[in-house]
Amino acid sequence: MGWHNVSVSMQNIYDDEVFFAGYQAMRDARSGINEAVKQPAFLALLPPLDDAVVVDLGCGDGQLCRVLVDKGAKSVLGVDHSARMFALAEKRTVDDRVRYLKSFAEQVTLPASSVDLVTSSLALHYVADLPPLLERLATWLRPGGWFVASMEHPVVTAAPELGSHPCIVDNYASEGERDTTWYVEGVVKYHRRISTIINGVIDAGLAIRRVIEPTPTTESLVQRPNLDHYGRLPAVLILAATKPLPR
Ligand SMILES: C[S@@+](CC[C@H](N)C(=O)[O-])C[C@H]1O[C@@H](n2cnc3c(N)ncnc32)[C@H](O)[C@@H]1O
Repeated sequence: MGWHNVSVSMQNIYDDEVFFAGYQAMRDARSGINEAVKQPAFLALLPPLDDAVVVDLGCGDGQLCRVLVDKGAKSVLGVDHSARMFALAEKRTVDDRVRYLKSFAEQVTLPASSVDLVTSSLALHYVADLPPLLERLATWLRPGGWFVASMEHPVVTAAPELGSHPCIVDNYASEGERDTTWYVEGVVKYHRRISTIINGVIDAGLAIRRVIEPTPTTESLVQRPNLDHYGRLPAVLILAATKPLPR
């Protein structure tokens, strides 16, 4: 791994006992936005996975890694710096095609053009300095390879002081660190404008193919009417980009 000249978000909130217990209970109860809002739109954006070599950044308990091999990926490297998440991912995965690396995404080094797909699900809003990571992962991709990522939507990260389900937006133009409370105080996230995120991907040499702001499916709203506010302001931004083929 290359440890030099990289900017690292030093936060490790996922190793906080109280935060981890609260977050994982929410995920295991499937009561968050993952299944009802993010996952269907995210999976629909993935390229064909047959024999694909995949890297998943901020993999958490490895759920997406397992889905990716089930859908045909040859191998998936899940990366997460949280020791608690790393242990849970290893425990929940019995498949030689999936490996886990306990590391900050910003510190991973992989050979150029060695990866078909880089995914990241709901993790990039924890990364303080996104452009260097985007540039780094763009080198890992083979020409024609894909980058598919979801993150907390900038309308949500803009003003956490407005509460967990704001239907108004404030401080959108002011980018940077946000100190939020989610299970515990002091959960640091990074707010960026949509244009900054998209231009960062373009500046890394990738071609944007799709941008999606998913809202709850009709089916999930019938089961969980409390998700209604996510139909008013989107909770998640998802984008798909490709590394151009040489001309
Ligand atoms: C909201 S969870 C999402 C987990 C998983 N991707 C999913 O969708 O189920 C965010 C994860 O990103 C990880 N994470 C946050 N910042 C990271 C970084 N800079 N490098 C690697 N992992 C990171 C956290 O430890 C946590 O497991």
